[in-house]
Amino acid sequence: MRAVENYTFSAKAEERFKKLETQFPERESLVLWALHLVQEDAGYIPPSAISYVAERVGVSRSHVQGVISFYAMFHDKPMGKFHLQVCVNASCWLAGSDELEKTIENHLRIRPGETTPDGLFTYNRQGECLASCGTAPVVQVNADYHESMTPQKLETLIEQLKRNS
Ligand code: FES
Repeated sequence: MRAVENYTFSAKAEERFKKLETQFPERESLVLWALHLVQEDAGYIPPSAISYVAERVGVSRSHVQGVISFYAMFHDKPMGKFHLQVCVNASCWLAGSDELEKTIENHLRIRPGETTPDGLFTYNRQGECLASCGTAPVVQVNADYHESMTPQKLETLIEQLKRNS
């Protein structure tokens, strides 16, 4: 994560953005790409990046804000190193996702939407099915799925993540 008060692309993001500009002549389609670059760079979408992306792409601020709020993958506040998302849709709920939620709340002492003080874990409930109902309940950690989870397996996973961080 880097300083974000007056966000501008890092050198690496700038290079990638320039390449994308040649691949996507339709400027509006660059908004998603630019936001991905910002999030990779800063760890989230800081407020100053909204105007920056709007200017770089040539769209309004409200257009950029609309894209951020439409896609759950974009975060408008700093996230922990590990983003724990517990699927709470029907199959996972029937398979015990509420026990997994209690495990996180008790073990890490955070509620949905919160981040641990050490910045390691952010926890959210995922209301949309993660498309892995056959192995419910499922917890997503960043891009990885952890299937057929139990409270014990989840505690072990959290401790492993802490050790490897
Ligand atoms: S309901 Fe959780 S993966 Fe489908």
